[in-house]
Amino acid sequence: MDEELRFDGRVVVVTGAGGGLGRQYALMFGGRGAKVVVNDLGGDEKGSGSCSTAADNVVDEIRATGGQAVANYASVEEGALIIQAAVDNFGTVDVVINNAGILRDVSFHKMTDEDWTLLQRVHLNGTRAVTQAAWPILRDKGYGRIVMTTSAAAIYGNFGQANYAAAKLGILGLANALAEEGRSRNIQVNTIAPIAASRMTATAFPQEFLANLRAEAISPLVGWLAHENCSETKGLFEVGAGYIAKLRWERALGHAFGADRAFTLDDVARHWGRIVDFTDAEHPLGLNDSLEAVERALRA
Ligand code: NAI
Repeated sequence: MDEELRFDGRVVVVTGAGGGLGRQYALMFGGRGAKVVVNDLGGDEKGSGSCSTAADNVVDEIRATGGQAVANYASVEEGALIIQAAVDNFGTVDVVINNAGILRDVSFHKMTDEDWTLLQRVHLNGTRAVTQAAWPILRDKGYGRIVMTTSAAAIYGNFGQANYAAAKLGILGLANALAEEGRSRNIQVNTIAPIAASRMTATAFPQEFLANLRAEAISPLVGWLAHENCSETKGLFEVGAGYIAKLRWERALGHAFGADRAFTLDDVARHWGRIVDFTDAEHPLGLNDSLEAVERALRA
């Protein structure tokens, strides 16, 4: 049998690791030799309150099986404190799993400034704060694995989640940019859109549906993306219920009116079928592929 993929000597930070998916990630890393910073603010699912018990319990679980872990209770908004905990306790950081999150679902016409701002602060600003604190360390050592967490609700859109969707797709944009910036330093950045039973989804789906959506089914992908043998970067994956699949952009061949020719909305209407036709579609991977389409249009 192949040897199991391990994280001996690696320092892994998991945010929001006191419960739900983050707890499973922390247990997996701890069980495979990593030194784990178990971060969790310990508040409720709407972002109120705080307590140290959630993170402490997971640290106890890891230590009980012989693993190495320390608790950290900072909010991800204070990302530097979380990375500092990794440096103070374990000397460095190698892997960052940006997982912490909250929900404040409400339809857009009833959404308050606080509903909006708090979601951006925790998800987008928190992910940026933790990642940016780790970034110089990862750059200097020429090694890093970062996993970001987005959501199908953001990729596809969902009623009542405008605040969450904006923050979560902001995270995907951040990941895409950092994957490019990290490429030359062996820092790989990937994003997952998980689905699993947790307190976050407890009221969103029927119980019988949630019964088979085990939180443990997300950690194998997170572990692989965080491993040194994995060369994937700038990937986006849907994962849940024992299923893992990569997503990518798709662009229709479209219609080129000619850069030097005047055209009107009537012309757009006339060619609409072609503009939205995905027959023979392309799958652009980077900005060059986008510019390539512009150059093609200029030649049309
Ligand atoms: P959860 O509510 O069980 O876990 C989230 C954890 O983050 C909690 O332990 C919470 O205390 C912690 N947390 C919240 N705010 C924090 C802050 N400011 N600083 C530090 N820790 C904080 O939720 P779950 O389901 O485990 O979610 C994990 C991630 O996966 C979240 O980013 C969520 O948006 C995302 N996600 C989950 C889905 C699911 O089906 N469970 C679907 C799509 C995305």
